[in-house]
Amino acid sequence: MYFHPSPSPSPDMSSQLWQSAAAVLDTNWARGHMVPSRRLYPHQWSWDAAFIAVGLAYVNPQRAWADLRNLFGAQWPDGRVPHIVFDPAVAEGDYFPGPGFWDVPAYADRPAHGSTGLVQPPMHAVAAWEVYRRATGHGAAAVAAARDELGWLYPRLCAQQEYLTGARDAGGRGLVSIVHPWESGLDNSPSWDAAMAAVPADLSLLQRYARRDVQVADITHRPTDTDYARYIGLVQSYRAGGYDDAGLAAWHGFVVECPAFNAIVAAADHALARIAEVVGADPAPHRERARRVTAAVVAHLWEPASRTFRSRDVRTGELSGRRCVNGLVPLMLPGLPREHVVAIMAEAESERFGMPSLSGLPIPSYDRTAADFDSYRYWRGPIWININWLLRRGMLLHGYEAQADELRTAMLRLIHRSGHYEYFHPATGEGIGEPAFSWTAALALDLLADRTAPVPAAARA
Ligand code: SER
Repeated sequence: MYFHPSPSPSPDMSSQLWQSAAAVLDTNWARGHMVPSRRLYPHQWSWDAAFIAVGLAYVNPQRAWADLRNLFGAQWPDGRVPHIVFDPAVAEGDYFPGPGFWDVPAYADRPAHGSTGLVQPPMHAVAAWEVYRRATGHGAAAVAAARDELGWLYPRLCAQQEYLTGARDAGGRGLVSIVHPWESGLDNSPSWDAAMAAVPADLSLLQRYARRDVQVADITHRPTDTDYARYIGLVQSYRAGGYDDAGLAAWHGFVVECPAFNAIVAAADHALARIAEVVGADPAPHRERARRVTAAVVAHLWEPASRTFRSRDVRTGELSGRRCVNGLVPLMLPGLPREHVVAIMAEAESERFGMPSLSGLPIPSYDRTAADFDSYRYWRGPIWININWLLRRGMLLHGYEAQADELRTAMLRLIHRSGHYEYFHPATGEGIGEPAFSWTAALALDLLADRTAPVPAAARA
């Protein structure tokens, strides 16, 4: 065991962590946007930008808004917000698959913004609300500027929600489907194993297109070649279909409903209801859609035997057999029935996910007791800070203050001891992946500042 639960961070530790986190965000600011990290992820990523904005709200709110503007500047006419916005100043060879591979339809009015055609969990409305509500700490001018930024973002956030809950309701059950594991943000989670097993893995693709990630990261910490061959094949399939979503389940090899993605969709509508009140729009439709999506998550993604949420393969109708951390994320929903809240907390406190009281460390990405739990490989075991940050919000929302505080302390101690890593070994706390990772730093700032956070505003609506 790396370290045991202990009292809240000392003032010295807090101040060191604050400085180091702010320094990571300075280092990773590049030409008007934030990169997740300098080497492995040299462009702008969608859900990263949301978590990053939450931290920038404390140290540089102008950059928080600029980063979100850069992302939404690349929004497609159909409302989708791309999962990567490419930086035209970065060479094609510095990231794979780069803009040339994606070959997305032309953006007549925004030629500089190459992008992918995939999406990621829509965390941006929650983030925009968080940045707005922190603006009071920066004076009246900052509040006025934040209100203007919300006005600019609001219709774009609405279009994003309408795309996801419309064109992407591939299963027709009121849930958003993802068409690629990259869209979940949890790329190689065991949650996709059953659905991915049916996707052809053409390893010759990796001879034609060399993986860039394993040139700059340890191959045993990343998705496997088989995973990557499938990832590339799925992009080719979606690209060949013109990134069109009509009839997806009939022609595309991966169409899955993820409980975490859908929980974030509902949380986005709760945040949009608050934003609507500020910009003079009607909050009621947002509350209604949040209610509908929450009800659909409960009705269709709950696995009664194990009392956990699971992903569902829309092509087969089957729920995943794996207990993964995405099944705990619906805890962030205010409308989650009490019996589901209690069951998720029991799962979080079990030996499978081991709250800090059991392990001394935050919650891992996969069931610790599973035979194929892998302490190093990306989303198949390691601890990720963004997911723990979401779970802590859920705990606060549902009245589990002691557990939320325990999780907060464990996250802060882990980052202080190991650094602002991309992810962490679930038994030793060793940092893995990129050492100066923007969302880890940004969320450390929020956790430091948010000692006695009230119920998250976005979740109160
Ligand atoms: N997460 C993928 C990567 O590792 C793509 O979004 O690059």
